[in-house]
Amino acid sequence: MTLEIENSTRQIEDRFEVGVYPKREVTIVRGQGASLWDDTGREYVDCAGGQGAANLGHCNPYVVQAIEKQAHILISCPEVFYNDTRAKLLQKLVEVAPTGMSRVFLCNSGTEAIEGSLKFARILTGKTDVIATVRSFHGRSMGALSATWEKKYREPFNPLIPGFSHVPYNKVEAVRRAITEKTAAVLVEPIQGEGGVNLPSDDYLPALRQLCDETGVLLILDEIQTGIGRTGRWWGADHAGIKGDIMAISKSIAGGFPMGAVLVDEKLPEIGKGTHGSTFGGNPLAAAAAFAAIQYTQDYNLPQRAAEEGAYFMSLLRPLVGEPGSVVREVRGRGLIIGLELKQKVVPYLKALMEQGVLALPAGPNVLRLLPPLVIERTQIDFAAEQIKVVLTQTLE
Ligand SMILES: Cc1ncc(COP(=O)(O)O)c(C=O)c1O
Repeated sequence: MTLEIENSTRQIEDRFEVGVYPKREVTIVRGQGASLWDDTGREYVDCAGGQGAANLGHCNPYVVQAIEKQAHILISCPEVFYNDTRAKLLQKLVEVAPTGMSRVFLCNSGTEAIEGSLKFARILTGKTDVIATVRSFHGRSMGALSATWEKKYREPFNPLIPGFSHVPYNKVEAVRRAITEKTAAVLVEPIQGEGGVNLPSDDYLPALRQLCDETGVLLILDEIQTGIGRTGRWWGADHAGIKGDIMAISKSIAGGFPMGAVLVDEKLPEIGKGTHGSTFGGNPLAAAAAFAAIQYTQDYNLPQRAAEEGAYFMSLLRPLVGEPGSVVREVRGRGLIIGLELKQKVVPYLKALMEQGVLALPAGPNVLRLLPPLVIERTQIDFAAEQIKVVLTQTLE
């Protein structure tokens, strides 16, 4: 088939992709640390951070070197065979995981980590139902989508999997009322990311932990966006001093290389052989990248860096609340997951910010979300905060 089509990146993507992604008018061709460059050579400060996959910065040297080296040794090795690189990663992952979360299922994405978590919860409890929260986001495959709250993501795909219910975030009594004899698990994000950067109150996660202990319901933590140092601690739930029974992780775990994982508390029974699997799960290339990513996060203490730089970033942004002409209603966040709730729809502001040289994300209709690499430099934070101020003190339609 010969197609008459001009050879431009954007035209090719628009022509040949199924078209599910709303695209921004920019072609990114290169990245380093917290900087990205477009095809005209223009530099941007990346506060979109690969939607949370770029905690270690673009082309992190540890990760690049690990991928390069492993690519010459072995790329494919399904989990039915043992593999030295994978074993090294498993040990490393368990070292940084909450104590006792030492049984791991490796997979390739966030949604796949949620699917695994849901299946494990069912098989471990013999029960079917899951309680999730209003404004949750857990992914796009059918199980994860059934747990996701947003109607516009769900409705085109009905009927979804039965047995999922949604209760308000931050309301432990609502969870208590929703538990039935069929409830296998409660699924919750330690901070709701896509749903608006919604932080839990200090007592929410501890109370949820206690409720699950009392009722024998499993607690699944979705740490896909909040994990790997993003919030200023290794895991988002560390701030509350609790751990889940099952934990789903992904995004930055392999320094931007696709990977997901489900971590299961060792006190739970064994999950039987043959009950779940994935061809690419535990792939040596991804495992090498993940080992390097965890090592770098440890060596450079990225959680601490996220806490300090996040506090600094927010100190520059908070004065926007109440500033004359400002459209910012609230600034909230923890570490380097930051949300600015606007009095207006966010999309025009994202566009204007990109024109000023800063890439950012939405979180729902009116929250501007910042997820910069944790290696972002002070000068980049200063620049981004200045541009955010310029853009958010205008009214845009
Ligand atoms: C909290 C959370 N869970 C699950 C997912 C789904 O991850 P993926 O897009 O890798 O399937 C995301 C993605 O944004 C997320 O933020």
